[in-house]
Amino acid sequence: MHDTKHITVLLQEAVDALDVQPNEVIVDATLGSAGHSLLIAERLGKAGTLIALDADEKAIAQAREKFMKVAPNVRLWNANFRELGPLLEQIGYDTVDGILADLGWRQEQFGGDVEQGGGKGFSFRVDEPLHMTFGDPESYPFTAYDIANSWEPESIATILQNYAEERHAMRIARAIVAARENGTIATSGQLSSIIEESVPAAYRHSGIHPSTRTFQAMRIAVNDELGVLETFIEAALEKLAPNGRLAIITFHSLEDRIVKHAFRKAAADGKGEVVTKKPIIPSDEEVTKNPRARSAKLRVFLKAFND
Ligand SMILES: C[S@@+](CC[C@H](N)C(=O)[O-])C[C@H]1O[C@@H](n2cnc3c(N)ncnc32)[C@H](O)[C@@H]1O
Repeated sequence: MHDTKHITVLLQEAVDALDVQPNEVIVDATLGSAGHSLLIAERLGKAGTLIALDADEKAIAQAREKFMKVAPNVRLWNANFRELGPLLEQIGYDTVDGILADLGWRQEQFGGDVEQGGGKGFSFRVDEPLHMTFGDPESYPFTAYDIANSWEPESIATILQNYAEERHAMRIARAIVAARENGTIATSGQLSSIIEESVPAAYRHSGIHPSTRTFQAMRIAVNDELGVLETFIEAALEKLAPNGRLAIITFHSLEDRIVKHAFRKAAADGKGEVVTKKPIIPSDEEVTKNPRARSAKLRVFLKAFND
């Protein structure tokens, strides 16, 4: 059985990278289970302000309780970090001193327990409605249900290739389209069975579950994870005060490449410097305790003093 509680990845490293000073204003763009946020809040002390967002309103609701006991001003927002720029303007901050994003999902969203914040259809291990959105499915242009039930096979194959390098992309896409003959594909379990039956037997025993890549690709497409990340980095660099720091933790190479290139370009444009010439990665000890940490990479950008 997999863990159902999220373990914060690169906790000390990411918060250290922000170089939090008492009385600063820090944004945690991905509150999640509040691991990073609580440590940031502790370092901010009474005079500082933490602004924390998450697209998943369950994360916000669960975090409220945790912050009752800590001192600084904490402002929690159920928002997509794509909206970082407008949100900060709306709440009256021209600039902030540090911004953190720890991308992807938290364990509770995979848990299969609707009460605990699962129920998103992210996992092929539990049978749940197939939407795969971090936030309210109603606010997304399409969900995984739409991909499975109405996309053309070529479009499905394209996201499987581009977002997950799925080697059986076309085969899986055709099987999904063919399965519609038997009724709608409404759950993660149904989708996973279709994938499992469509791939060669050898692939079923190849180390990773045959549904892993398809589920990853659909989640990235539904949440426009790469587009959102680009918009976020641009807004974050804009909103950082002189000497402010942006720290981003990624979990797959597509995201890491975007962060690496955006930071390099910002440095070339004279906006500041890349603090992490090489990404910071978790220690062996952390990976042993939390295998999900194994693909994590932390990159940090320092905004120029005179920008
Ligand atoms: C890896 S978890 C963060 C864990 C957190 N740092 C902790 O220590 O508990 C990522 C969180 O980001 C949220 N998320 C993912 N994409 C988002 C987006 N575009 N906007 C806002 N929140 C997002 C997810 O709902 C999830 O709760």
